[in-house]
This record gives sequence, structure tokens and C-alpha cells, in this order.
Amino acid sequence: MLKIGDVQIDNPVVLAPMAGVCNSAFRLTVKEFGAGLVCAEMVSDKGIVSKNGRTMDMLYIDEREYPLSLQIFGGEKETLVDAARFVDQNSNAAIIDINMGCPVPKITKCDAGAKWLLDPNKIYDMVAAVVDAVEKPVTVKMRMGWDEDHIFAIQNAQAVERAGGSAVALHGRTRVQMYEGTANWDIIREVKQNINIPLIGNGDVQTPQDAKRMLDETGVDGVMIGRAALGNPWMIYQTVKYLETGKLAGEPSVREKIDVCLLHLDRLIALKNEHIAVREMRKHAAWYLKGIRGNATVRNAVNECSTREQLATLLTDFVQEVEEKMELAESTAV
Ligand SMILES: Cc1cc2nc3c(=O)[nH]c(=O)nc-3n(C[C@H](O)[C@H](O)[C@H](O)COP(=O)(O)O)c2cc1C
Repeated sequence: MLKIGDVQIDNPVVLAPMAGVCNSAFRLTVKEFGAGLVCAEMVSDKGIVSKNGRTMDMLYIDEREYPLSLQIFGGEKETLVDAARFVDQNSNAAIIDINMGCPVPKITKCDAGAKWLLDPNKIYDMVAAVVDAVEKPVTVKMRMGWDEDHIFAIQNAQAVERAGGSAVALHGRTRVQMYEGTANWDIIREVKQNINIPLIGNGDVQTPQDAKRMLDETGVDGVMIGRAALGNPWMIYQTVKYLETGKLAGEPSVREKIDVCLLHLDRLIALKNEHIAVREMRKHAAWYLKGIRGNATVRNAVNECSTREQLATLLTDFVQEVEEKMELAESTAV
């Protein structure tokens, strides 16, 4: 059983934090598909400290998402601690996570994200200061190193543990790799063998079988899934069930996929406004449509939609078209 600090987590399947994706609308949907823990997209410490309006909106959590991990990023101790304290006292996040993996230059040049990976002493210092300032458990999500020549994954994870951190999530790539190559699960296993707090493995879990393999091969306490869940919360459900029973649940129908896509859309509209939500939903709609035969035209058309009505009509018409084609194929086969 995965337990982070005093937070009990029902199963080891964790939705990865993803900027521009993991807001409450998507997280709640994935939670309903059975994820043990959902992680929010990263939030700037400076944005929190200055009470920036858009940043404050990012702290919204629906109670049904519990337990949720809220990730902050920053490069300076004072603002990071102040932001963590604010989240601790003013949000219903169960866990506060610190980002030590973000590879993008805009973040690393402010000494935030993956930049920390070069200095275990800084990690100790920053994590200890945050742990001291808050009540909620503090965790860290990191990459395995900055580049091939600077892989301090074990020292960095041990620094988190010594500083009082309650868990580590480890993505088996370096900062320089960005998303290239394959994730290194050997490092994940080595880190697991060298720390005593829970380790969540991450990187390239694309199927329920991958999740099981990661658990078996590395001994991690949880598996974190990112890209495979985009437009595909069923993958989370299938993984939870597969780990429980060893059986693979079936694939959703096209209608089921579009129904969930529309639920996600309506949640996004409630969270933001229709104008923003529909634009943001275009990429999600394309992900929901992925793999459905004959989707090319509708995937392009999604990008022209600017109202709920347009997007919903487009998608429901597509479902009808697919179902009619299937009925025709079945009747001619008889
Ligand atoms: C669109 C996108 C946004 C991401 N944003 C974040 C983020 O805000 N914080 C973070 O720690 N990692 C972020 N990541 C990294 C993922 O959490 C995860 O580590 C990575 O995608 C590898 O896992 P996967 O192979 O299951 O996708 C992001 C990844 C993607 C694809």
C-alpha cells in the first residue's frame, strides 16, 4: 500500500503532473477512472507569493480529487517556502510536491526545475526549509540527472529523504534528453534500493503491462503515468484493474470516448470560460480521437471550433457517422 507521509493512497497508479493539462477538469476525470493519486500541473512559487490571479486559479481543487499532490516550482528558498506555506494553509491539496525535473530553459535559467539536479546540497537545504514550514507531506519529482555526465539520482533522492521529504517521483531521463530516447528504469531500481521513503517510478509507462513490469523490475512503490493518459483515462482504469486482477479490461467504444471528452469539456468550461476552455480542449479532443479509424477530417475540424456547440456537434456527428458505418458493415457481413 502506497502511503506518503500520513496520506493513504488506495492504489499505486499516479497521474503525472502535466503543465497545460492537469487542471481540475482533467484530474477529476482521471480520478473517476480510479487513479490512486492525481498530480496538479506545476505552479510558480512567485505567482503564488504575488497572488497572481491566474496562478490563484490554478490552486483550485475539487474535493473529489482527494488525495491530490500540488506541485510548485522555484529557484529561491524564500519564495519557495512562502509559496509552500500558502498552499499548506489555503488549499485542500493533500501533498506538496517540488518540481526538480522541468527541463525547459525558461525554468532552468531561474535555477528552478531540473537545475537543482546538479547540487544535492541545495536539494537538502531547500527541501528541509519547505518541510520545516508546512504540515502537509512534502515530496519531490525529479529527473535522473542533468546530463549523462551528471547523474546524481541516488544522492539527490537521499538528500530529499534526509531533509524530511516523504516520497520521491523519478523520471528516468536526464534534462538534456528532454523526451528523447527511452527512460532508464535501471536507475529507478538503484534509487529504490538506496532510499527508505516511497519511490514512484516514471517514464514510458504506456500500457497496463508496462506498469506491472516497472513495479516488478524496479520494486517501486507506485507508477506515474503521463502521456499515455492524454485523451485516454481508460488507460488509468485498465492499469488499476490489471494490477489488481491480472486481467485486461476492454477498450471503450467511440461513443464512450466522446462522452468522456464532452464531460471533460464541460468541466473545463465550468473551470475557465467557454472561450478559453474550447481552445484548450482542441488538443484534448485530438487526443481522445487518436486511434479511431477515419478521424483525420474531424481532428482538423476541431481546430476551427470556438464554441461548445460547434465542438459538441462536430464530435457527436462523428460518433453517429462511425456507428452508422459499423452498422452497415455488420449488416453486409450477415
Ligand atoms: C505536456 C506535458 C507537461 C508536463 N508538465 C510537467 C509539470 O508541470 N511538472 C512535472 O514535474 N513534469 C511535467 N511533465 C513531465 C511528466 O510529468 C512526466 O515526467 C513525463 O511525461 C514522463 O512520463 P510519461 O512517459 O509517462 O509521459 C510534463 C510532461 C508533458 C508531456
